[in-house]
Amino acid sequence: MRLAHISDVHFYAFPGIRGSLGKRALGLANLYVGGRRGHFGGDTIPQLVEDVLAQRPDAVAITGDLTAMAHAEEFEMAREAFRPLLDALPVCIVPGNHDAYTLAAVRDRTMEKVLGPWMAGGRWDPTERRWTGAEPGVPLRWPVVFEVGDVRLVGVNPCRATLSATGRFPRGELDRLEGMLAALSRERKFVFLLCHYPLLDRDGRPYARRGHNLLDLDDLLAVLRRQPVGAVLHGHEHHWFTASLPTPGGPVPIFNCGSSGYARRDPERTAGFFVLDVEGGELVSARRRSLLETGFREYPEGDTRPRPPT
Ligand SMILES: [Fe+2]
Ligand SMILES: [Fe+2]
Repeated sequence: MRLAHISDVHFYAFPGIRGSLGKRALGLANLYVGGRRGHFGGDTIPQLVEDVLAQRPDAVAITGDLTAMAHAEEFEMAREAFRPLLDALPVCIVPGNHDAYTLAAVRDRTMEKVLGPWMAGGRWDPTERRWTGAEPGVPLRWPVVFEVGDVRLVGVNPCRATLSATGRFPRGELDRLEGMLAALSRERKFVFLLCHYPLLDRDGRPYARRGHNLLDLDDLLAVLRRQPVGAVLHGHEHHWFTASLPTPGGPVPIFNCGSSGYARRDPERTAGFFVLDVEGGELVSARRRSLLETGFREYPEGDTRPRPPT
């Protein structure tokens, strides 16, 4: 089973002044003053979609921050740009903090209204080419489980609308996660955990970037030490890295996709995605595709699975 992992494409739609009051005004200032807007967009996404399809994945995971400010228009831009993937493959989407940017967006379930069919989990029907068995119309109850062949993708959602970019799991979500992981472990399924927030930083320490971190990270790490998964996929930090979480059941590889929509000349910091292969219940390779001047290429060359700390 081959999985493509995308993250943090940050579609951006200028909302007009009325939609820019409050927290969104801060976001706009960031986009312009921080020069973020110039880094996203152009023809990066069509090239990304073409190269993802060229890798012939069996499924696609998108770990959040599809938008800049959680406007309906931004979710629609993402849906249309990813349409060739959504129409052809099982795509599994979890939100990022930017997709829960305002209380109104969370309350109105703006993301679910546009992307709900790819967020609710369920079983992939290869004939109908759609997810079945889950109900996207009701408020989603996280975690969700996506079934693709013998592999399970478990999505969690600690994203909420606050003035900071921190996350925190709603009550009960981590207990439900632990129960689900225990059941999947009994069934000997390979599990990818999809979470927008980093667990470890690039030096392998618990991710603690102030104002940007997961506030109950320790609780999530404790769940994973008791119920290790096959691999963790996340985004949020826009420059990719990998890490390895030691657990009593063995090391868990963690992949930070970084941004898949961040066109820059520096090959270490440009848009990219991972191509992850699971065979016989094991992750057997992880390759990185990066946007270089000649298009998406394997860069760096070779396997990018993290080495467990010695
Ligand atoms: Fe992001
Ligand atoms: Fe983020």
